[in-house]
Amino acid sequence: MEERRLETTIGNLHLRTPLLTASGTSGSADELAGLRESKATAQALGAFVTKGVTLEPRRGNPEPRVIETRAGLLNSIGLQNKGADRFLREDLPKLWQYELPVIVNISANSVEDYAKLAAHLLANDGGQITGLEINVSCPNIKEGGVAFGVDPKVVERVVRGVKAAVPRGRDVLIVTKLTPNITDITVPAKAAIAAGTDALSMINTVRGVAINIHTQEPYFANVSAGLSGPAIKPIGLCMVWDCFAKIPECRRRKVPIIGIGGISTWEDVVEYLLAGASAVQVGTAWFVYPDVFVEMKKGLEKYLDDNKTTVRELIGKAHGTCS
Ligand SMILES: Cc1cc2nc3c(=O)[nH]c(=O)nc-3n(C[C@H](O)[C@H](O)[C@H](O)COP(=O)(O)O)c2cc1C
Repeated sequence: MEERRLETTIGNLHLRTPLLTASGTSGSADELAGLRESKATAQALGAFVTKGVTLEPRRGNPEPRVIETRAGLLNSIGLQNKGADRFLREDLPKLWQYELPVIVNISANSVEDYAKLAAHLLANDGGQITGLEINVSCPNIKEGGVAFGVDPKVVERVVRGVKAAVPRGRDVLIVTKLTPNITDITVPAKAAIAAGTDALSMINTVRGVAINIHTQEPYFANVSAGLSGPAIKPIGLCMVWDCFAKIPECRRRKVPIIGIGGISTWEDVVEYLLAGASAVQVGTAWFVYPDVFVEMKKGLEKYLDDNKTTVRELIGKAHGTCS
């Protein structure tokens, strides 16, 4: 009973804690194994979200790829990864040793390739993939490079394609990860729901620029990069709040929300839960504090004890009657 207060549910997936890794910030199995706190970290996690996987290997963007800002990190990695086949062969079996649900973050440059990638992963994973998280922040090459996630019609097509790629008889959680680089996040959220997503995760990084005053040029080859870390927490929180308040499926937790963005302490986790998130992902903070998940779990347990409550009871509680 003691441990049950941390439990939460995303679709059909039961999580022992609401703490998940954020894609791209936690690598895959090797990075977790390299941590001194690796066993305790795995025990503090509800699920592991992998870095972005693409059909073919990608070299990523030229360096520099990351720089620190005063309240976060700018990155322009360009989805460097070894491709689906090596991921399946080398990383997936290692991840399973932690006995955690594995959610694979998927990226592609066309609507068709998202479906192709999902079908390929699920045909060759030996039943080991628990869920797919669709990263719709990638550039849609066929449509001039604008991110998929800003056009609700495209979001709908991507999600439908991935859902259709799930083999009959398999229960695979489909999460759509939304971009914050849009005026009203509830628009793509509703499109993903219409296409049958099981859950939403938000937010991906916020577009930002940094300029080197010595060379008098932008730092990054692509000029803009993605901002993460403490600076974006209020933005992520606001977007979770809006979806929970304005979308009945989210409010009823039929389509639960996974909150992401600047979460660095257990207090941040509680805020996201109160805003309407059923679970959270932690990214940039893990670069700074290797034991962040262990500390978050401890802090959360104490808060739940002190307030005689559970994670499930906290979800959306801050809305009270005000929305
Ligand atoms: C270095 C780095 C790489 C990332 N790679 C991915 C990725 O491959 N796929 C994805 O959906 N998000 C990616 N993200 C975004 C994170 O998963 C997360 O949405 C974002 O960093 C906000 O969370 P945070 O403030 O806790 O870091 C990446 C972020 C960083 C910092």
